[in-house]
Amino acid sequence: MATIQVLKPKFHIDECLEQVRQCLEAGWTGSGFKTVEFENQWKAYTGHANACYLNSNTSGLHLAVNILKRRFGWAEGDEIISTPITFVSTNHAIMYEGLTPRFADVDEYLCLDPRDVEGKINEKTRAIAFVGYGGRVGQLDKIIALCKKYGLRLILDAAHMAGTRVNGVFPGTWDGVDVAVYSFQAVKNLPTGDSGMICFADAGLDAQCRMVSWMGINKDTYARTGSEGSYKWNYGVDYLGFKYNGNAIMAAIALAQLPYLDEENARRRQIVAMYDKGFAGNPRIQVVPAPYADECAYHIYELIVPDREGLLAELAKNGIYGGVHYRDNTEFSMYTYAQGTCPKAHKVSHHIITMPLHLYLTDEDVEKIIRVVNGFVT
Ligand SMILES: Cc1ncc(COP(=O)(O)O)c(C=O)c1O
Repeated sequence: MATIQVLKPKFHIDECLEQVRQCLEAGWTGSGFKTVEFENQWKAYTGHANACYLNSNTSGLHLAVNILKRRFGWAEGDEIISTPITFVSTNHAIMYEGLTPRFADVDEYLCLDPRDVEGKINEKTRAIAFVGYGGRVGQLDKIIALCKKYGLRLILDAAHMAGTRVNGVFPGTWDGVDVAVYSFQAVKNLPTGDSGMICFADAGLDAQCRMVSWMGINKDTYARTGSEGSYKWNYGVDYLGFKYNGNAIMAAIALAQLPYLDEENARRRQIVAMYDKGFAGNPRIQVVPAPYADECAYHIYELIVPDREGLLAELAKNGIYGGVHYRDNTEFSMYTYAQGTCPKAHKVSHHIITMPLHLYLTDEDVEKIIRVVNGFVT
């Protein structure tokens, strides 16, 4: 029996190999060359004014907190309001800088609920970290309004949002988003091996980010080798930076994949529409809606079901592998201090199941999955 995986990246192998070949022939696999080309293409594709290529989204989230902390004079113990329904990177990034995630509950899109967020703003709050869950924009507009009302910064964890638009515009470029961070990790909509992009609205913070993401050195190697080919060793180091820069091999793969992203996201939406229709008549299944669904770059497709563990087992019996995105982060020992503060997220975390969603799924696969799910959840 052929098995169906929950997530499976599709690589355009010949184009990827050709791009990687160019790196190897040029003898340049580090930062620069393809990374600069990809940054420029990403800016053209998304409309972001600035883009700095990194080795992951996690690094980018950490840099976002690190750089905003310095820029706005945040102190250890200050708080960033965040979601418990996310990959731990979102919340670890806050902790790396000695700040504390203050968890707020989720809405029907499983994104931060603006009403709960507003109730959790206090004198220590400095920012809100919003996750575009599964590619959804949720109520980001209302979260931005809260940031403006209370003088907070907004960090957009756009790990799932490669290609999501609202009326043709990337939400990460909206006025009020200080920084958006994308992921091009192995199974994301734009897969590489591991990499990410951080897009600051402010050009000065972008310039600082380039320096901080490369050990705090104030010129990158590519620039140092210069047109005359001499290695300019006489650089300055003004900042305790990190080795977070992206490399040319990953950028080469991203360059090969980017031209396909919109058509691939359109296919994801077709699969989602089939699922939505297939589950619409089942009163025991709750689908997670998306605002602006016809422009959402669905990364994952979730159902809320009474017996999640039973359904996972039943799917596996049929060669179908589901998943769970995500467990309520306040269940992890690091974050238990916030247990009980987000009851909706906590409940959902025990009933949520990720259905297969990727470009190798045929319509017949989707029909089979719908059949198995509806046969079990009765
Ligand atoms: C919501 C969310 N944030 C952050 C990350 C971290 O991304 P990366 O693996 O590129 O560091 C992920 C990856 O799974 C994610 O799903």
